[in-house]
Amino acid sequence: MIILGIETSCDETALALIETRENNGVSECKVIASIIHSQAELHSAYGGVFPNLAKREHEKNLIPLFHKLLIEAKEFLPKSSKTADIKSFDKAFRERYEPQNPELVGAFLGANFLNDIPAIDMIAVTEGPGLEPALWVGIVFAEMLSQVWSMPLHAVDHMEGHIVGSLLPSDIANSVWHKLHEVSYPALALLISGGHTEFVSIDNPGSYKVVGATLDDAVGEAFDKSARLLGLSYPGGPHISFLAQKAKDEGVKAPVSLPRPMIHSKDLNFSFSGLKTAVLYATRTAPRDKDGNIDEIWKKGLALELEEAIVETLDRKLRDALEQTGAKTLILGGGVSANRMIREKLSQTSKELGVNILLPSPTITGDNAIMIALACALGGKNADKQKARSLRASGTKRLA
Ligand code: KG4
Ligand code: ZN
Repeated sequence: MIILGIETSCDETALALIETRENNGVSECKVIASIIHSQAELHSAYGGVFPNLAKREHEKNLIPLFHKLLIEAKEFLPKSSKTADIKSFDKAFRERYEPQNPELVGAFLGANFLNDIPAIDMIAVTEGPGLEPALWVGIVFAEMLSQVWSMPLHAVDHMEGHIVGSLLPSDIANSVWHKLHEVSYPALALLISGGHTEFVSIDNPGSYKVVGATLDDAVGEAFDKSARLLGLSYPGGPHISFLAQKAKDEGVKAPVSLPRPMIHSKDLNFSFSGLKTAVLYATRTAPRDKDGNIDEIWKKGLALELEEAIVETLDRKLRDALEQTGAKTLILGGGVSANRMIREKLSQTSKELGVNILLPSPTITGDNAIMIALACALGGKNADKQKARSLRASGTKRLA
């Protein structure tokens, strides 16, 4: 089965074509082509993702990126004998989609390359959660494409994408078959991203239950907002991580102690907003140079303390969650799972507790469309083929 994945929930415009198959009862996946176009640099001026700018950029870039994807995939993608007549959809698409997404609809209707239909079996698009104006660009594109190419459309939950992304092996080279990692159930996913921090308990493939979540900021937000207070650009997580590593290498000590939020509560919820406030207070008394910039050594020490506070908090909660769910496999997912200290600590804890840990390959920790296409493929196998299965209700349901 060949699946096109489309992801525009935040500040990455991502497209991917994957093929999946069953080989002696083992699920295998081949990445035919994948493109991730990041808007992070544009958003850094705003200190976070600016939804309408994200929408405009997705609208501008989606069609050219899709053309590029098809060219890259050409040699591996069978051509179907069917062709489309995009002009015949002109009136219908202008009426239905143009008021909301004029730039996308204009580019779509002018893309004559869409008249050649490749042998794709299904289109998968992220339906949420995410930034609504950004999500709609992907959804409208997917809806139009599924009509022009007469292909089934499947809505995918972004967070499910982050879960199944970790089933891929670390070397997902293009156009080679790879076995997916096996999961022993019950499993537990810890999803840590810019918008979410949650534990998802998985008793069977495709059956998800959120058993803990952040009450305020997500862990990625704690990294990003603290980084901003330190004068570092968006996204702040990688900068904090870099400075923390330097502090370790250079033996720099933490200038203050930061809280480990909610580690003594017995539930599986998180709260990271207090951490950002503590960083704010700490910066008020930080040593500065004559231009008012925070001292570099102090900054490194604070970055290390912040990373340690986050790692310890995640680790404490994870131990409780593993005990409460009896999980045999831990699946880590989301953009923050790129963090080295988090990967190392949680791997160590899993080993200590005899739990198998699945970490996403560093190339797909961030938002991508491979994971969206894969969630669709596995959803098709494990659950109702026709119905999108959301982890939570999404406000953006409009898929046919
Ligand atoms: O999953 P993702 O790409 O987008 C969302 O769905 O939110 O996650 C983005 C988040 C940002 O907050 C970013 O700062 C964080 O992931 N991040 C990191 C690292 N790399 C990305 N946080 C800590 N350490 C990193 N190495
Ligand atoms: Zn994400």
